[in-house]
Amino acid sequence: MLVLGIETSCDETAVALYSARQGLLGHRLYSQVETHSEYGGVVPEIASRDHLRKLLPLIQELLDAAGARAVGGIAYTAGPGLIGALLVGAAVARSMAWAWDIPAVAVHHMEGHLLAPLLEPDPPEFPFAALLVSGGHTLLVEVRGIGRYRVLGESLDDAAGEAFDKTAKLLGLGYPGGPALAQLAEAGDAGRFRFPRPMTDRPGLDFSFSGLKTHALNTLASLAGTPQDKADIACAFQEAVIDTLALKCRRALRETGLGRLVVAGGVSANQSMRKKLSALAATEGCRVYFPRPEFCTDNGAMIAFAGCHRLLAGQSEPPTIDGRARWPMETLTAA
Ligand code: KG4
Ligand code: ZN
Repeated sequence: MLVLGIETSCDETAVALYSARQGLLGHRLYSQVETHSEYGGVVPEIASRDHLRKLLPLIQELLDAAGARAVGGIAYTAGPGLIGALLVGAAVARSMAWAWDIPAVAVHHMEGHLLAPLLEPDPPEFPFAALLVSGGHTLLVEVRGIGRYRVLGESLDDAAGEAFDKTAKLLGLGYPGGPALAQLAEAGDAGRFRFPRPMTDRPGLDFSFSGLKTHALNTLASLAGTPQDKADIACAFQEAVIDTLALKCRRALRETGLGRLVVAGGVSANQSMRKKLSALAATEGCRVYFPRPEFCTDNGAMIAFAGCHRLLAGQSEPPTIDGRARWPMETLTAA
């Protein structure tokens, strides 16, 4: 089974070829970040138009580089995401599948992220606990197999990546702010401010990150706002987010008794977080798994991989084109 994966849920146009036997054969990504940065965030209509412009040439480039091969199925991100952007990927995937007379399968974007660490050498076995930290979602999930998910906790307001982006914006950093904030935090004095660790003083595995952004705003307003002030705020904010995530991961591992922790989604590219969670796993006697940095953020490989497993399980979609702006992960069926 050779699967073409298509990802267009937000501001990256990404494609990949995954072979069930040979693994990942190639991937391509076009990022719209520069286009959206002048607006300070993703403009949905511009995103859709850019996907429309870039997707087919990117697929052509990928297939040309891979040589003549018969694609056996097409996997596309059907949601959650920006509905117009999703529909571009869905329309292209369904049309190509119809033209080639091969199956197409809808992939859940967060299942793609969740399975991305399985593309690495020495992948985790099931079951495991997964921390998914992206721009749109923060989820702790008990994973028993593909499609066998139990959501243990989630963010009640801003997702972790969203909190990074919003705090970065108020510190005067560009979009997307996560990587820029992480870089600024390196110059910060970790001892100067201590931000709260939201919802850690009560039981449960849910998160709330919107208060940290307000805390950063109030702290900044009480100071002169020098570059050092901003670096110290970035450092305190990042520490608070990472500490909170680590504490909930420890709680999830202890409550479930699982010995493996998978961390994925855009924020899992954060080096301080990787260090903190690796240290946590070591003290808990667990193993931790991350995707390679380029597969933390949106990519086509994770969609091709997830779709390949679903296609091998005989799943495919009827020839309708849809996208789901919202799609609860627990409604997925087992593969
Ligand atoms: O998974 P992703 O590419 O897209 C969504 O599915 O949302 O995640 C993007 C998010 C953005 O909020 C971005 O700022 C954040 O991941 N991010 C980071 C880092 N790299 C990306 N946040 C903190 N530190 C990073 N190094
Ligand atoms: Zn994503």
